[in-house]
Amino acid sequence: MKKQIIVGVTGGIACYKALDIVSKLKKRDMDVTVIMTKNAAEFVTPLSFETISQNAVIMDMFDSPDHWEVEHISLAKKADLFVIAPATANCIGKIANGICDDMLTTTIMATKKPVLFVPAMNSAMFENLIFQENVQKLEALGYSFMKPATGLLACGDIGIGKLPDPEEIVDYSCNLLFEIDKRKQDLVGRKILITAGPTIENIDPVRYITNHSSGKMGFALAEAAFERGSTVTLISGPVGLSCSKGIRRIDIGTTAELSEAVHDAFKDTDALIMAAAPSDYRVSSPSKEKMKKTHEDLILTFTENEDILASVGKIKGNKCLIGFAAETQDLIVHAVKKIERKNLDFIIANDVTQEGAGFSGDTNIITVIKSDGSIKSYPKMSKREVANIILDLLV
Ligand SMILES: Cc1cc2nc3c(=O)[nH]c(=O)nc-3n(C[C@H](O)[C@H](O)[C@H](O)COP(=O)(O)O)c2cc1C
Repeated sequence: MKKQIIVGVTGGIACYKALDIVSKLKKRDMDVTVIMTKNAAEFVTPLSFETISQNAVIMDMFDSPDHWEVEHISLAKKADLFVIAPATANCIGKIANGICDDMLTTTIMATKKPVLFVPAMNSAMFENLIFQENVQKLEALGYSFMKPATGLLACGDIGIGKLPDPEEIVDYSCNLLFEIDKRKQDLVGRKILITAGPTIENIDPVRYITNHSSGKMGFALAEAAFERGSTVTLISGPVGLSCSKGIRRIDIGTTAELSEAVHDAFKDTDALIMAAAPSDYRVSSPSKEKMKKTHEDLILTFTENEDILASVGKIKGNKCLIGFAAETQDLIVHAVKKIERKNLDFIIANDVTQEGAGFSGDTNIITVIKSDGSIKSYPKMSKREVANIILDLLV
């Protein structure tokens, strides 16, 4: 199940940075719902948050809910974590004093889930004893706070009060979720190597060939493995995704670089999950200079790349090896051949032509084939859920 994050946005000058927070949470495979105050909507439009979160933005207390449950109660229950960023002095003051006069404050009051406030304001406001007392009161009640950064503030003053970097806020939120989710720490002590994304093969210094792999499956695996307590190394091709700070990330470009990184990291790992989509071929002689248009057909010659999984299969010993088979036809036949040829323990087969399976989406439809020949198919699920099924194989 995807983590459900409610991002509360209140009316501070740092509102625009909340767009980046929402975007970064989404990139970490979270389902984000934004609740804005009316004053926040003076700074940034709900439409921007709606577009980035891909969920309706909630502002009005008295909009009729489209189901039986009152909306602020259903949001309060649905959330795994509330992140209020930026949190105004006003919003914090209201919660500290039990005032709930809008959708955000009412939902925060109605929730038993963890709430993280990320205050941002002018330093005089921040240092005001009334505000500090409110923070202390809420901290004593179990609410979490991130300390603002120090620097040049929007008002021109220099001091404490800046909203921390969105990446830091997302890391902090993920760590809180991680703390909350200690229930499933069944991979503690395991070292797992995961690959993700495509590789690129250069044609000349400015052009390359690649494939449609988005990296989402590999990143979901890395986050889930990290969450379940394992030490994770993630080797990623060029993708626009970010991962938790605790994950050791190695970025590569070509299949040769991927191979070198995998062989190097495999020495100190218990399991390899190869979710990357390395290119089977590279351009035989990439041009050193940018190729010029000749007005004639361009013919490129390709050389086969090393089969990384097969080469690791030869040296795997008793380590666990899991591969993926993305096919467009005869899925099971191809996958069973692959498991034997590459000496794998499991193969995760998916027919990338099926709607909801494969590369760029947030869902996948998989069939797990074990080296003993047993086969189990699963319905369409989020990539995070698929990741946990794959990790269960290791357990
Ligand atoms: C241009 C401008 C910038 C503001 N920036 C902040 C801010 O950074 N932090 C803050 O606590 N209040 C700030 N305020 C004041 C809040 O908007 C005000 O306290 C408002 O009542 C907050 O409403 P809300 O908490 O319901 O969103 C700002 C006001 C204006 C007009």
